[in-house]
Amino acid sequence: MSAEPVTAAHADALAGIHAAAFPPDEVWSANVISLHVGLPGGFGFIDARGGMILARTVMDEAEILTLAVLPDARRQGLGRDLLQAAMRRAAAADARTMFLEVAEDNASARRLYARHGFTEVGRRKRYYANGDDALVMRVTLMPPDATGVR
Ligand SMILES: CC(C)(COP(=O)(O)OP(=O)(O)OC[C@H]1O[C@@H](n2cnc3c(N)ncnc32)[C@H](O)[C@@H]1OP(=O)(O)O)[C@@H](O)C(=O)NCCC(=O)NCCS
Repeated sequence: MSAEPVTAAHADALAGIHAAAFPPDEVWSANVISLHVGLPGGFGFIDARGGMILARTVMDEAEILTLAVLPDARRQGLGRDLLQAAMRRAAAADARTMFLEVAEDNASARRLYARHGFTEVGRRKRYYANGDDALVMRVTLMPPDATGVR
């Protein structure tokens, strides 16, 4: 697997990937990314081919904060690998449930999440800068014993 754990030193590289993957009004700066990586329970992975994911665990819950793959690197399994790395990492930190928000019209991401067991559990009205709603999705994480990761 080529997803590597991130530190604040990766902030510029992560911001570059994020900026290329999202519309301008949803882009996260290197400073914002550093702050998220430094939060208690914050973690992330980068794939040098052009992918990144940030997440956080709090007690027994985890949340995907953002996931981005460069347009030219899509449909090659990077998003899947990054999501799986984050799910394993969260389970190893004793999280038992993982949440995320995704735009209703983001068919690619919704399919990726559905394939990993996420189901829709709610909706946040006008969550995005463009006024779109977000769907809240949740999955039950496999305990580390079952995933073989510690
Ligand atoms: C969503 C995103 C991260 C997927 O990354 P990716 O590296 O292309 O995904 P993968 O190649 O690992 O694909 C994994 C699965 O996701 C689904 N998927 C990915 N892109 C898809 C597309 N264009 N159409 C339909 N399904 C898609 C498929 O189920 C795919 O599995 P398959 O190839 O076996 O069918 C990427 O498209 C992206 O960065 N989009 C812009 C930012 C974004 O929307 N982030 C998520 C915010 S919640």
